[in-house]
Amino acid sequence: MSVSIKTPQEIEKMRIAGRLTGEALDYITPFVKAGVTTNELDKLCHDYIVDMQHGIPAPLDYAPQGHTPYPKSICTSINHQVCHGVPGDKALKNGDIVNLDITVIKDGYHGDSSRMFYVGEPSIQARRLCEITWQALWRGIRMVRPGAYLGDIGHAIQSFVEPLGYSVVREFCGHGIGKHFHEAPQVLHYGRPKTGLVLEAGMIFTIEPMINAGKAAIKHLGDGWTVVTKDHSLSAQYEHTILVTDTGFEVLTVSDGCPPPPPLP
Ligand code: MF3
Ligand code: CO
Ligand code: CO
Repeated sequence: MSVSIKTPQEIEKMRIAGRLTGEALDYITPFVKAGVTTNELDKLCHDYIVDMQHGIPAPLDYAPQGHTPYPKSICTSINHQVCHGVPGDKALKNGDIVNLDITVIKDGYHGDSSRMFYVGEPSIQARRLCEITWQALWRGIRMVRPGAYLGDIGHAIQSFVEPLGYSVVREFCGHGIGKHFHEAPQVLHYGRPKTGLVLEAGMIFTIEPMINAGKAAIKHLGDGWTVVTKDHSLSAQYEHTILVTDTGFEVLTVSDGCPPPPPLP
């Protein structure tokens, strides 16, 4: 599959879908508290996206090859859950960290973003993992410009987190995005500089590193979706949808409540 270059008209639609995705994350933020169930967060997001944004939650009934259709509208991955956590009737509790991953389709185009949330007061270790993962995402984003390589992004992330004792999940990656949820290219969160695809203005893809406090290995739960760390160590993830511009990058999944970029290293 070749990597599409989006037209100016498509880019404008991706800006709208991206902003709505960020705003859906802003909307749900005050509800993420001890005692709320992930089903309740799912329902709130579903109704906000459908009724207020007049959009479509892309995960609902999403059924890639070899998967049963995803049964909910968002992904909620708690503590040692790496990604694709399926909302359920379990309540969040003080000290949990949880990733909410939201994908909004608007006017045929997708925005995809996720953030970590603290439930009450997580441990210093848990908060540090989340902060490092946010910084890792931005190390990747800051490599993006025409002429850079996909391997530069992966290397920037891997070479930042591994010396800190963390590991990069290998089985899942960022992805091209547009009319389809998952398009070419695959954006690995590890790799070597000056390898892989050369970036061109008009490409749009996500960067979404999953970083584990322990080893990189993962396993799948029996629900067909939820992914957890094999060693049950904590895992964190942040995701933005990124446009390659003539001079660098533009983050499409921005919103007023989006955490600000970390200071330059
Ligand atoms: N939002 C995820 C991503 O970043 C994909 C979720 S697929 C689902 O690519 F079916 F689990 F929703
Ligand atoms: Co994604
Ligand atoms: Co996502």
